[in-house]
Amino acid sequence: MKSYCISIVGTGYVGLCTAVAFATKGYQAITSTHDKQKSASINKGIPPFYELNLQETLQKVVRDGHLECTLKRQEAILNTDITFIAVATPSKPDGSIDLQHIENAAKEVGQALNKKDTYHLVVVKSTVVPGTTENVVKPILEKYSCAHCGVDFGLCMNPEFLREGSALHDALNPDRIIIGEHDQKSGDGLEVFYRDFYAEKMPPLIRTNLPTAELIKYASNAFLATKISFINTVANICEKIPGADVTMVAKGIGLDKRIGPLFLNAGLGYGGSCFPKDVKALIAHSKTLGYAPDLLEAVENVNETQLYKAVQLCRNLLIDLKGKNIAILGLAFKPNIDDIREARSILIINQLLKEGANIIAYDPVAILKAKSIFKNKIKYASSSIECLKGADCCILVTEWEEFKKLKPEDFTKNMRQTILIDGRRVYNPEEFSKKLKFAAIGLGPGNLKSTANKP
Ligand code: UGA
Repeated sequence: MKSYCISIVGTGYVGLCTAVAFATKGYQAITSTHDKQKSASINKGIPPFYELNLQETLQKVVRDGHLECTLKRQEAILNTDITFIAVATPSKPDGSIDLQHIENAAKEVGQALNKKDTYHLVVVKSTVVPGTTENVVKPILEKYSCAHCGVDFGLCMNPEFLREGSALHDALNPDRIIIGEHDQKSGDGLEVFYRDFYAEKMPPLIRTNLPTAELIKYASNAFLATKISFINTVANICEKIPGADVTMVAKGIGLDKRIGPLFLNAGLGYGGSCFPKDVKALIAHSKTLGYAPDLLEAVENVNETQLYKAVQLCRNLLIDLKGKNIAILGLAFKPNIDDIREARSILIINQLLKEGANIIAYDPVAILKAKSIFKNKIKYASSSIECLKGADCCILVTEWEEFKKLKPEDFTKNMRQTILIDGRRVYNPEEFSKKLKFAAIGLGPGNLKSTANKP
């Protein structure tokens, strides 16, 4: 096995998890940031965000000397063979992506390459709209390095598909590797690297041009978002049909190999730092090209309205929300992470506050981040049971494992009025509706047999 030295620009989810994954194979990974505190923390083995198994693995690779985080980006690039650019590409108000971090990173990499006289491979891992690597990154690299792309340095676009919550596992076991290449030598260099890295576990590899690789990333996320909005649409139809249940519909259609069972969990819609941003960016980019992608606009619209189903169900059961105590279980945009970016919980809580409700929320790890948004506008509980105490209604927003274990008695014994809204379909409607007033996404009338649910 060759021992590569790799520099990674960016210490967010993709940057840090990719660096840690490379380091676990014994490669030398050097991440860089301009944030002193972040760098010190990473060098102590403490990641700047919560991610399953990341801290233990980071501590090990730092201890073994395989990963370091430096403030000296140029040195990092000069001392390595390949540089991955994994900086954020946030949304602008019109939905298009903001390229300032990419542009700055390309400039710094270019400046470093100016001082290097051996071939270096630059790989864009950030999610960027088609054309960005060729028309934005390449000219900046050439300008500041005074070198020629494809001759003095190589350039690839290599989208990342890892999920938060299973980032390390995904980085080590991807379904596929996509290499968009500026020229054959660049693509060969990255393919050799990945074949060495994954060895006998090498996943299927696709080599293509730069814009196609860029679009594969957007199309993947847009397709998954479409599956979610599709099943949420079916859930809304189910709610009009006596006896229908979206979870069985999803099971039934998911067994068709052409459809597949994944990403068919109906609920309050998708959040996070990727799907909302990427669907918007693809729509905005298509429009600049003269094509309005109606399907993707519909996907986004369904997602925007879906979360308010929780508030509507609450209104149906409580009539007036003013002065009512509402318990929110789950703040993170999905389980096993502390990320609340574009979390459905934020919009739901804001709407409930607007209607005069008192909110108490609990999440196993995301409370600290939620405090920075809601401050003292809401109360925070330190356990799910504490959250339920004295509540008139509970909304399950994020499907953490510990919430799945709650029994009907946990609600009946602690709440003032026992109303439960299952926003992620984790509870058995038959069991729960026998003991409390229960409502859930995608459940048609007639599924709830208990007297507790009769008006
Ligand atoms: C997503 C993609 O799954 C990754 O492949 C991609 O690399 C990443 O975006 C990215 O572009 O960086 P992530 O946002 O971490 O990953 O999380 P997902 O597991 O995809 O979940 C996104 C949202 O969809 C969550 O809010 C989740 O609750 C929701 N979701 C997911 C559903 O509502 N229903 C489902 O069936 C699945």
